Amino acid sequence: MATVLVTGCNRGIGLQLVTQLHARGDTVIGVCRQPGDELAGLGIRVIAGIDVADGASVAELKASLGSEPIDVLINNAGILRRDTFGELDYEEMLLQYEVNALGPLRVTEALADNLKAGSKVAIVTSRVGSIDDNSSGGNWGYRASKTAVNMIGTNLMHEFKPRGIAVALLHPGFVATDMTDRHGVSPEVSARGLIERIDELSIENSGGFWHAEGYKLPW
Ligand SMILES: NC(=O)c1ccc[n+]([C@@H]2O[C@H](COP(=O)([O-])OP(=O)(O)OC[C@H]3O[C@@H](n4cnc5c(N)ncnc54)[C@H](OP(=O)(O)O)[C@@H]3O)[C@@H](O)[C@H]2O)c1
Repeated sequence: MATVLVTGCNRGIGLQLVTQLHARGDTVIGVCRQPGDELAGLGIRVIAGIDVADGASVAELKASLGSEPIDVLINNAGILRRDTFGELDYEEMLLQYEVNALGPLRVTEALADNLKAGSKVAIVTSRVGSIDDNSSGGNWGYRASKTAVNMIGTNLMHEFKPRGIAVALLHPGFVATDMTDRHGVSPEVSARGLIERIDELSIENSGGFWHAEGYKLPW
């Protein structure tokens, strides 16, 4: 069984990911800012106090892991700030870029030496980051941050290919979490799909952009 590290594991999709991975016997390292009761009740190893938008905080994560090998790194932490043209808040847009785009890069770069041939990196992005799929506009800061992380994930694919490390960009679906005011499919169903996609990830199909349900998404 694998050692899997998941960011943003205290609620929503991340909490379901760590719950299901732990239940099937993986060694799970949950990373979050503030653990809640549900996470604590799982009995998994938790590294708390980690803000993916803060370099010093991510350095603390690296320090607590040392050289421990990681088979699967799941960059799941993310934020959505709803915004409207004419009233755009550029600080909020930058914050989304910090968390959603630079967060996965910052964590992956910090833990690069913990990954080895055969390891996998998954980034929970969003289909709203797809330029081809943008049929409605809106969500300016969030969309742009997810488009950026798609590029970052593609760069990571190139960076890691010579080391035999595979990378996937995964859309979880429209999922009923705090982010969506609990509209959408259950986090249980989404997490199951994400885990299936990660199980199928290999160096041969590295760099793909998939829906949790299994089909490829356009860039
Ligand atoms: N729900 C959807 O329909 C949907 C659709 C497409 C993509 N996604 C993506 O799926 C991922 C998970 O979203 P979700 O729906 O589970 O949202 P959620 O319930 O709002 O959970 C977000 C998670 O990210 C963590 N997080 C936010 N900012 C952080 C930071 N600076 N440092 C560390 N952790 C941080 C949160 O921790 P705190 O509790 O400390 O805030 C929480 O654990 C995100 O990347 C999101 O963009 C979701």
